[in-house]
Amino acid sequence: MSAHRNYALILGCSSGFGKATALAVAKQGYHIIGVHLDRAAGLAAVDELKSELNNLGADTHFFNVNAADADRRKEIIEFIAEELSKFPGASVKLLLHSLAFGSLLPLAGDKDTKVLNQKQIEMTLDVMANSVVYWTQDLLSKELLGRGGRILGLTSAGSNRVLPMYGAVSAAKAAMESYMRQFALELAPMEITANSIRAGVTNTPALSKIPGNTIIMKNAFIRNPYHKLTTPEDIANVITLLIKPESKWINGTILGVDGGEDSVDITWYQPTESEFGLC
Ligand SMILES: NC(=O)c1ccc[n+]([C@@H]2O[C@H](COP(=O)([O-])OP(=O)(O)OC[C@H]3O[C@@H](n4cnc5c(N)ncnc54)[C@H](O)[C@@H]3O)[C@@H](O)[C@H]2O)c1
Repeated sequence: MSAHRNYALILGCSSGFGKATALAVAKQGYHIIGVHLDRAAGLAAVDELKSELNNLGADTHFFNVNAADADRRKEIIEFIAEELSKFPGASVKLLLHSLAFGSLLPLAGDKDTKVLNQKQIEMTLDVMANSVVYWTQDLLSKELLGRGGRILGLTSAGSNRVLPMYGAVSAAKAAMESYMRQFALELAPMEITANSIRAGVTNTPALSKIPGNTIIMKNAFIRNPYHKLTTPEDIANVITLLIKPESKWINGTILGVDGGEDSVDITWYQPTESEFGLC
């Protein structure tokens, strides 16, 4: 690891993949700048996470704000610039986009069906995809994203499959994958890589909000070659590999991190009663 201070800017840091990644990269010596959006009831858990990170030796700077709010983003970028200026050679080496905040409604329906409106679609696309572009642009314009840095965005199998109510999130996932490919091309001269991580089905607060999540989990449990769900730590472990210099040739791709779940066709598989019981 370099002698300079490395920072991870984690959007969606208080839960799920973002939280697990903060802990994993703190163990690798990273300091953590975390953005999250939690109500008062969730703040004790955020304080606990900060203490855990501090105990691992990481400095923590957490911001409880909407990551898609341009004014808040500018303030945080200013803060990062000031913080890094105290430590010669310090840079953000990992930008992880792990925000889960979307409207789950159908795109279309009859006059009695509540369908997605323009504001909901724009908000979903903005938080879950477009924001990664603006954060990256601002980091670059202040020269905060270091050579050899990594940009990672979470995607899901829903980017190219159809699930009820998932239309806007699905569009956001497709956009995220596209942005990562584009960054891979544009940032190669700075030796910054950009990739999407297609996580397997993981039991997090975000999943619990998706209609039919119990069926989604049962289905994943059956299809997964290990008959297990993905955990946030499974994703964080892979991210600790991706921050290593040896991973620099992984660029502009969609990395399935799901134990092999996505490619399994379950039509042949007959689960036993006891396996269903375990779901
Ligand atoms: N859970 C799964 O099965 C699964 C599978 C594949 C991909 N993903 C994707 O992974 C990403 C993270 O999901 P997760 O399951 O870890 O969710 P999670 O609910 O555990 O965490 C979401 C995080 O985002 C933060 N957040 C939400 N809206 C925000 C906003 N507007 N501004 C700032 N912070 C905000 C929350 O505070 C929290 O820290 C999402 O993009 C999700 O679509 C999830």
